[in-house]
Amino acid sequence: MAQIAPIDTDITLAQLDQDPFPIYRRLRAEAPVVQLKAAGRTLLTKAADTKFVKDNPGLFSSDDPNTPMKRAFWSHTLMRKDGAEHMRERMAMAPAFSAKAITNDWMPQYQRIAEEYVGRLPRGEVVDLFAILSGAYASRGLAILLGMEEASDEDMMEWSQALIEGAGNFGWQDAPFERADRANEAIHALLDSLQDRHRAAPNSSAFSVMLNADDPIPEKQIYANIKIAIGGGINEPRDAMNTILYGLLTNPDQLEQVKQNEDWDKAFEEGVRWVAPISASSRLATEDVEIRGCLIPKGDTVMTIQASANRDEELYENGEQFQVYRDKNPHQSFGNGPHFCQGTHVARRAVGKVMLPVLFDRFPNMEISNTDDVIWRGFGFRGPIQIPVLLN
Ligand code: HEM
Repeated sequence: MAQIAPIDTDITLAQLDQDPFPIYRRLRAEAPVVQLKAAGRTLLTKAADTKFVKDNPGLFSSDDPNTPMKRAFWSHTLMRKDGAEHMRERMAMAPAFSAKAITNDWMPQYQRIAEEYVGRLPRGEVVDLFAILSGAYASRGLAILLGMEEASDEDMMEWSQALIEGAGNFGWQDAPFERADRANEAIHALLDSLQDRHRAAPNSSAFSVMLNADDPIPEKQIYANIKIAIGGGINEPRDAMNTILYGLLTNPDQLEQVKQNEDWDKAFEEGVRWVAPISASSRLATEDVEIRGCLIPKGDTVMTIQASANRDEELYENGEQFQVYRDKNPHQSFGNGPHFCQGTHVARRAVGKVMLPVLFDRFPNMEISNTDDVIWRGFGFRGPIQIPVLLN
């Protein structure tokens, strides 16, 4: 009979927030299945195991009743549903993410926004690109894609942060839920006011396709899933973009090669592999399961650490380094299985195909003057929270 996984009582959430990668490397070697006391969950750090969990939703449910997400979002979103119920809600939004909508409707808009937002940046100055460019660009594009362009960039960024922090409020503190409540109220008020417009003039936006479907899902779920897209569609492209910029600007040889070959898409994939914007996901064991000789008891919550899977020595040479020109890059940053990120192609194209070339075209000699000024944070979600760049 398999033993339950070893317990670690030393690793703290603060350490993981600061720099999780040395810890993951040690865990992959010494305890790839480990109960982390600080998180109250079993961490899986090997690529085969994180993929196994996400590919087997019958054994590992997304419907984890212990997460604060439902409280923060006022509802269960599609991310926390399984099987047919999940699929129905995911399909309701799918037309807005189709290849046709992305190519014809969204990419021309992203192109216009990228040119406008990059065009207003000052030349010759050091600018923190975190909010002024990366966050704002992701917000504007997403507001249009969702059909709520009346929201300002600041609104979108605040709502996204409030929802994410509410969903991650494992200490069940009041303040993060109150902030999330204010975001919910504002989003609901805006969506209420936009229903007539979208009914009168149906379009490819996520809100419109869900409202105008022949057999629509309940309004509560339409709103919940717009909110999950706000929570999931801003910080991740923002963090991906900042990470890629850091990777390229601190590796000038690679940058030269990327520019010459226009390999921005490769740079994108390597950036999201190197530092996974969503580093961890939770799943609930629906029966006793054995992983690497360890028993995961029914009812246990596991955390798949895709940030660690993406550097697994079994798949990558020099996984700790940013190397655009790798032989293979089977990263798990967009997840696996039925919950595979619905915004994958939008993010790839908005950042890789549109923003990076526009930015390097206008500022070909950008520099990070002092890498100590770049501050990285995050365990569940990770990226630079400050990235001052000299724009030249
Ligand atoms: C680089 C950018 C992005 C990354 C790294 C990313 C990552 C992820 C990951 C890892 C998941 C799966 C979570 C799980 O398995 O529990 C996910 C789900 C999701 N993402 Fe993204 N995402 C990105 C951008 C976006 C964008 C731009 C949108 C919307 C336009 C979006 C919408 C969604 C939605 C709706 C889901 C839930 C899918 C489902 O549960 O069926 N994402 N994302």
